[in-house]
Amino acid sequence: MIVLGIESSCDETAAALVNEHGDVLSDVVASQIDVHAEFGGIVPELASRAHIRNIVPVIRNAVSVLPGGFSDVDAFAVTQGPGLVGALLVGLQTAKSLAWSVGRPLVGVNHLDGHLLAVHLRKEGESRRAPEYPYIALLASGGHTAIYRVQSWSDIRLLGQTRDDAAGEAFDKAAKMLSLGYPGGPVVDRLAGEGCLEQKLFSVPMPSLENLDFSFSGLKSALARHIELRGIPGGRGLADLCASFQFAVVEALVRKSVAACKTQGVPRLVLTGGVAANRGLRERAKQSCLAEGIELYVPPAASCTDNAAMIAYAGALRLAAGEQDEAPTVYSRDPHRRRGKFRRDGTLAPRT
Ligand code: KG4
Ligand code: ZN
Repeated sequence: MIVLGIESSCDETAAALVNEHGDVLSDVVASQIDVHAEFGGIVPELASRAHIRNIVPVIRNAVSVLPGGFSDVDAFAVTQGPGLVGALLVGLQTAKSLAWSVGRPLVGVNHLDGHLLAVHLRKEGESRRAPEYPYIALLASGGHTAIYRVQSWSDIRLLGQTRDDAAGEAFDKAAKMLSLGYPGGPVVDRLAGEGCLEQKLFSVPMPSLENLDFSFSGLKSALARHIELRGIPGGRGLADLCASFQFAVVEALVRKSVAACKTQGVPRLVLTGGVAANRGLRERAKQSCLAEGIELYVPPAASCTDNAAMIAYAGALRLAAGEQDEAPTVYSRDPHRRRGKFRRDGTLAPRT
């Protein structure tokens, strides 16, 4: 079964062809970084307009690998949310029109499910290294930061999440305060690699392992205060400041992810979302997982960031199970994730 996936929830217009085994036939992404860079963040109205410009060429490009074009597509999958409503509508309406015009089924996909299942994707020439179920997944991106227990592709449970900013947003805002441009994660990451850590400069936010939630807004304020008092350093000082800021974010993410694996009795951890590209995070997670006997899985960067292959795959699994949607609509917030305290066997503990 060949599924055409379409993704337009934020600032990437993407289309991809994937089968239900996760084999990727094509994977096309048009980034809007240039559109939003001068504003230091995503401008929703501009994102919608850029999706409208990009979506037809991106889909054409993705389908061009099929000899019969659209007639070789068995079904369509599209991101329903969470995301920017105006941006989501562009992908959803395009997918509905295409599915209707060629008479093939359509399924709506939760964007977060896509990220959490992306570890199962495999491109030509790549070897697949995917965990068995269940696994713990840390999803850290510009819009989301949460830890999940992925019991199966259709049973995904929220264990903890950020109470304010996402980790990627924290990196982006830090970079903005330091006049480092947008998106901030990659440049903070690069500078942090050249700097030395001042352990005491920023404390690790919400360090208690009593819960698996995060908070990054206090860390952002601490950086703002630091800059107010001492100004933006140059050269070595800037690299050291980035190293200290990154350390605090990474520690929070790794400590809680490892704690989730331990309390859930699941020795498999997946890192995904754009922040999974962070070298400090990868390195720290590697050390910590090795020490705790946890297997670590980090998909290639192109599968971690927003893409349509993950949407096509999540959709293909739903379709293979006999599901489809008559008329999917969009949603801006995650509508159905169950949250609660889960026992080690994955069952939900009653509220006390
Ligand atoms: O998953 P993604 O491409 O888009 C969504 O937000 O859904 O993630 C983008 C985020 C941005 O906030 C970006 O700054 C961050 O991921 N990011 C990084 C790195 N590369 C991208 N953050 C830290 N270190 C990186 N190397
Ligand atoms: Zn995303």
